[in-house]
Amino acid sequence: MRYVSVGEVPRKRHTLFYEPGGARLAEELMGEQGFHGASSLLYHRHSPSALSSVKAVEHQPAQMQANYPLAPWHLRLTKLSAGGDAVTGRVALLASETVTVNYFSADAESTLFRDSRGDELYFVQSGGGVLETVFGALDLRPGDYVLVPASTVHRVVPDGNSGPLQGLVLEANGHIDVPAKYLTPRGQLREGAPYSERDFRAPQVPLLVDEPDVDVLVATRAGFSRHRHVSHPFDVVGWDGCLYPFAFSVHDFEPIVGRVHQPPPVHQTFEGPGFVVCSFVPRPYDFGEGAVKIPYHHANVDSDEVIFYVSGDFMSRAGSGIEAGSLTLHPAGFVHGPQPGSVEASLLVDRTDELAVMVDTFAPLALSEEARRVSDPTYVLSWARRDDD
Ligand SMILES: [Fe+2]
Repeated sequence: MRYVSVGEVPRKRHTLFYEPGGARLAEELMGEQGFHGASSLLYHRHSPSALSSVKAVEHQPAQMQANYPLAPWHLRLTKLSAGGDAVTGRVALLASETVTVNYFSADAESTLFRDSRGDELYFVQSGGGVLETVFGALDLRPGDYVLVPASTVHRVVPDGNSGPLQGLVLEANGHIDVPAKYLTPRGQLREGAPYSERDFRAPQVPLLVDEPDVDVLVATRAGFSRHRHVSHPFDVVGWDGCLYPFAFSVHDFEPIVGRVHQPPPVHQTFEGPGFVVCSFVPRPYDFGEGAVKIPYHHANVDSDEVIFYVSGDFMSRAGSGIEAGSLTLHPAGFVHGPQPGSVEASLLVDRTDELAVMVDTFAPLALSEEARRVSDPTYVLSWARRDDD
């Protein structure tokens, strides 16, 4: 991410820095990959290390069962039980060795949370709210991807104005970023990338809360802990650097279309450890003479493919029962393509209004009990339907 500076920072790094009232501020270097990767410097009013207690928190991770016997899946996420908050109320659906795909439907504000297992990437399907962080706040709007870097203390606050705050949240075992292929050697987004720096929103002002004895839920690979901080972690008067939470609206993704069908990499939006995220946005269909406008059958032999259907008409899945709020898993080892009748239906239209988010993982995904509970048992046979059925 580009360099950002928010609030007050000293002219030189690693020098004494005082508030106007005279108190010395505590500098924190937050950095990835042993401080060799992206980093930021944050200036706290209090020591971010000052804890008054540490406790274990009971937490049962969802049990994941391998996709065996191998099958494609259609999950109806609208059938998941809603409510709770976006952190402790999220429902794990699918997990590989490096990423877990969760759904949330939040009507309550979350506790302060620090996920030290890796970055989290939200996709907001509906509702609104605010992500509050040590770096400042970000508005949450439908269509937003929101990246929360690993170990960022934050909380998710739904506004309740338009129903619950709903969507997906990916928990990565590592860091998520824009794909390297979109960047120049010096790190600027290239011309031809489907977005530019102007499309990314960073916190703009510090978020300061003065409060003693504040609990933060901390996730590690060993489980959940509760750290009681002597003072509220939102005490950063300024920060600068290239590591911070940011938002990118899928509505700012510029689709790339061709005379004949373009392959999924043109839709790539983010990359993470062992997975990529792609955005399918409203766009003109392929316009060449005789072009088949929807995807041909494809065997993505190294990937399990997850698609979350957000809104619009999903032409390639005609007649399958897939609708907004559906999520499919098309695993490696299974060839998938358009459902019967889809190609013919697409020939009649010039553009698609579909909005969908895809996650391709390079290790197999296992399914939770909740995922199986809301699955459509007829989906596996949906390609075998005859056109005259
Ligand atoms: Fe596919």
